[in-house]
Amino acid sequence: MKIKDWILERFPIDYNRIVEVTEKAFIKEPIPLHYKKWFFATGGAPLILIMFQIITGIFLMFYYVPSTEMAYESVRHITEEVRFGFWIRGIHKWGSNLLVISLLLHMTRVFFTRAYRRPRELNWIIGLMLLGLSLGLSLTGYSLIQNQVSYWATTIGTNSMGAIPLIGDSLLTFLRGGEEVTGNTLTRFFTFHVTLLPPLLILLIVVHIFILRLHGMAELEGRESEGTYAFYPEHFFKVVIMTFFILAVLSTLSVILPPGIGEPADPSVTPSIIKPEWYFFLVYIALKIMPMNIGMSVLMMLGVVMVFWPFIDEFFVKKMPKVRLHYFVGTIAILTFLVITLWEILV
Ligand code: HEM
Repeated sequence: MKIKDWILERFPIDYNRIVEVTEKAFIKEPIPLHYKKWFFATGGAPLILIMFQIITGIFLMFYYVPSTEMAYESVRHITEEVRFGFWIRGIHKWGSNLLVISLLLHMTRVFFTRAYRRPRELNWIIGLMLLGLSLGLSLTGYSLIQNQVSYWATTIGTNSMGAIPLIGDSLLTFLRGGEEVTGNTLTRFFTFHVTLLPPLLILLIVVHIFILRLHGMAELEGRESEGTYAFYPEHFFKVVIMTFFILAVLSTLSVILPPGIGEPADPSVTPSIIKPEWYFFLVYIALKIMPMNIGMSVLMMLGVVMVFWPFIDEFFVKKMPKVRLHYFVGTIAILTFLVITLWEILV
């Protein structure tokens, strides 16, 4: 008896139906020809990076100890003593940075091609949730090292969340597990980082890709379809090549610029400058130049505009069909982000 028949006798599923569905949904999935250009297929990169984050995260958990006494020491042990520990940690750390970059590129491509237009508005909103979850994972992961920078960044980060109108105070206490940043905060951030956010992220990615498959990938606006090609083998092998390429980039970065461990956290010594990771610089500056509660309200309004952007844009397209509002808004948003981020990095 063949192995396949042996398994099917014990696990009696309709095998042919599963093959049929898989072929339709993945192997023969028709992809518009313009996706052969790399820039259009940027959504694959976050997918690959998240896979690396999960694998390296599991390896890090073998050694990481989530307690205020042991966390810093366990990260030092991983980095300096565990075989290939620096490499696994380097991939995880650089991976989180590349994940944000790849998400911004993916959003840029979706935004400038108006791929969020009807009927894909919901996938845009789910995409924003994926961005929020990814940033949440970065924020909670950063706090786990328990060095000076991470301790104080957690203090400032949770402080600014306390300035969110109406729910701020309760949110701050909930995130910190009390009024102050203590061992409770570390336990909570560890729980978010490891057990809550990753399954949510995976679930939403599945929904994101499911919706994408239901609609098929968006054709270029205002142009006749140039035809399609099947997902397998060309697109599939591009994803494989991209996976190895990303692994090579992450490994090179981990060797050339390995993440350090800094000084252990000291709640009694406030560093002169506390800066968050580069992708929060926009938030950091907004809260620096405005009173915190006003800054937070402005940021939340921006968030609301982003969520409803496909509908706002549609409204203006109907009113002023000749004006390409999304080009204008997209360019301003990218320039503001780049100028503020580079300014904070370089100055
Ligand atoms: C973990 C994060 C994400 C993953 C893994 C992901 C994955 C993908 C993939 C593989 C595609 C197919 C087309 C392509 O490769 O570009 C896609 C399309 C799309 N994504 Fe994402 N995405 C993520 C986050 C986002 C974000 C942050 C947004 C926007 C806020 C977004 C909005 C969209 C939209 C609207 C489409 C449909 C585009 C079309 O049909 O041409 N996604 N996503």
